[in-house]
Amino acid sequence: MQVIILPTPNDVAQYAANSVVDVVTENTNSILGLATGSTPIALYDELVSRCRAGLLSFKNTKTFNLDEYIGISECHEQSYRAFMNRHLFNLVDINPANTYVPLADSLDPEVLTRNAKAYESEIERSGGIDLQILGIGVNGHIGFNEPTSSFASRTRIKTLSKSTVEANKRFFIKGEFQPHLAITMGIGTILESRAILLMATGKGKAQAVKDMIEGPLTSMCPASVLQQHKKSIVILDEEAASLLSLKEYYLWCEEKRQQLHEGNLL
Ligand code: PGA
Repeated sequence: MQVIILPTPNDVAQYAANSVVDVVTENTNSILGLATGSTPIALYDELVSRCRAGLLSFKNTKTFNLDEYIGISECHEQSYRAFMNRHLFNLVDINPANTYVPLADSLDPEVLTRNAKAYESEIERSGGIDLQILGIGVNGHIGFNEPTSSFASRTRIKTLSKSTVEANKRFFIKGEFQPHLAITMGIGTILESRAILLMATGKGKAQAVKDMIEGPLTSMCPASVLQQHKKSIVILDEEAASLLSLKEYYLWCEEKRQQLHEGNLL
């Protein structure tokens, strides 16, 4: 696990944008895994700016989002399809047919399960994800894989934890129906990505970040599974990194890595 600690949330977004640009420009047909939530918004803003400036094109890119709520339509402002259209897809040159978000606009469990399986097949048919962007929940979830999710889980219907429902309450109008279920990529699905980049900012995430990086490998903190991935990069701002015991070591590692790459190690 590569741990990168940067001064501000904007630095985190810039670093993540550089990683996305590398993947999109290095692969003729790049496949990105995308996340919703407040953390990646600054990343999407940056990608939109670079695309508008002609520095980046998504013409040959396919995207797969982590999750989608069950019980609201895709047209609902808080659906993750609507979120992605608003923050990225409608603002860049991507072909809408190449943007995948789990289809969760049914209340029939058989249809939902079929959709989840079809999503897995589509990822596989596309050749797998080159770079998966992740956020982290205050409870350590990735996607909607809540604590105690199996590390082997695949895309499926998942019940949200009470703490996740509470954390996302701010996005829904008071009294409005708020989903308690979602279709989410599984942890096993996420782990098959060739590279993973998790972004976390703010002190509210500090404990989850500590559990993920320095805690034991446990389904009680689903993100801790990233300790086992061959190429996982965690990008943090100072606040999210504030509880890490080995913070100085991670900063030192990055300094050494840079010196090595710049040829001035000695
Ligand atoms: P946030 O959500 O970016 O809105 O904090 C992250 C998550 O729950 O995965």
